[in-house]
Amino acid sequence: MLKNDQLDQWDRENFFHPSTHLAQHARGESPNRIVTGGKGVHIEDRDGNRLLDAFAGLYCVNVGYGRTEIADAIAEQARELAYYHAYVGHGTEASITLAKMILDRAPETMSKVYFGLGGSDANETNVKLIWYHNNILGRPEKKKIISRWRGYHGSGLMTGSLTGLELFHKKFDLPLAQVLHTEAPYYYRRLDLAMSEEDFTAHCVAELEALIEREGADTIAAFIGEPVLGTGGIVPPPAGYWQAIQKVLRRHDILLVADEVVTGFGRLGSMFGSLHYDIEPDLITIAKGLTSAYAPLSGSIVGKRMWEVLERGTDENGAIGHGWTYSAHPIGAAAGIANLELVDKLGLVKNAGETGAYLVDTMRDALGAHAHVGEVRGEGMLCAVEFVQDKEARRFFDASRKIGPQVAAALLQQGVIGRAMPQGDILGFAPPLCLTREEADQVVDATVKAVKSVF
Ligand SMILES: Cc1ncc(COP(=O)(O)O)c(C=O)c1O
Repeated sequence: MLKNDQLDQWDRENFFHPSTHLAQHARGESPNRIVTGGKGVHIEDRDGNRLLDAFAGLYCVNVGYGRTEIADAIAEQARELAYYHAYVGHGTEASITLAKMILDRAPETMSKVYFGLGGSDANETNVKLIWYHNNILGRPEKKKIISRWRGYHGSGLMTGSLTGLELFHKKFDLPLAQVLHTEAPYYYRRLDLAMSEEDFTAHCVAELEALIEREGADTIAAFIGEPVLGTGGIVPPPAGYWQAIQKVLRRHDILLVADEVVTGFGRLGSMFGSLHYDIEPDLITIAKGLTSAYAPLSGSIVGKRMWEVLERGTDENGAIGHGWTYSAHPIGAAAGIANLELVDKLGLVKNAGETGAYLVDTMRDALGAHAHVGEVRGEGMLCAVEFVQDKEARRFFDASRKIGPQVAAALLQQGVIGRAMPQGDILGFAPPLCLTREEADQVVDATVKAVKSVF
């Protein structure tokens, strides 16, 4: 291996890191951890640190690190056939098999899988399919997409617009005009503290209705949402939210996209968030847990009703004008097959539900009463601790104090990786789905110490 200082220098001189303070990094003021290996829930860096990764990379390494079953499947596929495209009806055994495995696990109302490479491009595909669908149905004005503030759907032009976080819009001339945002389903941050959870759901619904009324239902094509808000703060929906929202969408003939990039393939303790919350989407976005990030692969699962319209569209207009060179890449597909087999074999969906609940309960027992912990929440293998300055008045810290990043840095000192979520002082956890109770205890113990050291 190259000497550490040389890699360090090459990194700062050559490498444009995503979601990074570019100037600080170039000046050497920010950490540049160089990761060299991983096994189970742990990663190792070149300095010999072994860290418990309680965020599974970017909530994607669901089966944990170092799974030779997936590595072997990738190697075998690469040797046999590293690549062939999927245009004009071509396929490979791996891509066809994986499509079948996904549909076997998805809600019954789903029909076909289009494969992409990452969550952002899958959502770009979704928007194109929605617009095509409405053009085929002869309603060219019905094109706007409603997302929620704090939703995360990617960082492309359209998907960055759908994302409801300021950092992804500022100075990029986003959001684009076809995108509208509505209330975040975030009960803890409700403006009126007197509201019950049910009242707050009714408020979210009323906000959506008002937006549709203002814009005109005949201009709105679709609504996109994550079953559980992820990057926006790890926030399970308030009681009755999805049922009430779906009623409104159906009444106005608005399509629903369930963005399951984080929740798909077991993270909530159910195979899909749509099954967990009784959501009946027209499109489901998948990525991350599809291959546990052993290879880049995403997908748009298209519902039966929408599929019929797409077929009609190609009868009228010829082949669909949409595709990437790497759509349904066989190496990604081979990784996906081996990964989903492993998820089943190891019972990881069940473990996500059970050990995830244990993690959230133990975290709440340990920190719920702390003067600066406003809320401990979670669902399945997702957990968040939100910090407040004044608990009684629910007054938040000034963002400039960077409480969330400070706690995440202190946690790292304890050998555990959590994530300071980008908007608010929220420490997020999304460990690999194979986390054990002992490892959950380690995460909680380290968090308690980190919180103590910051406050
Ligand atoms: C819900 C959701 N959708 C889409 C994306 C974008 O995926 P990618 O980063 O693979 O483009 C993410 C990424 O975190 C996500 O959490």
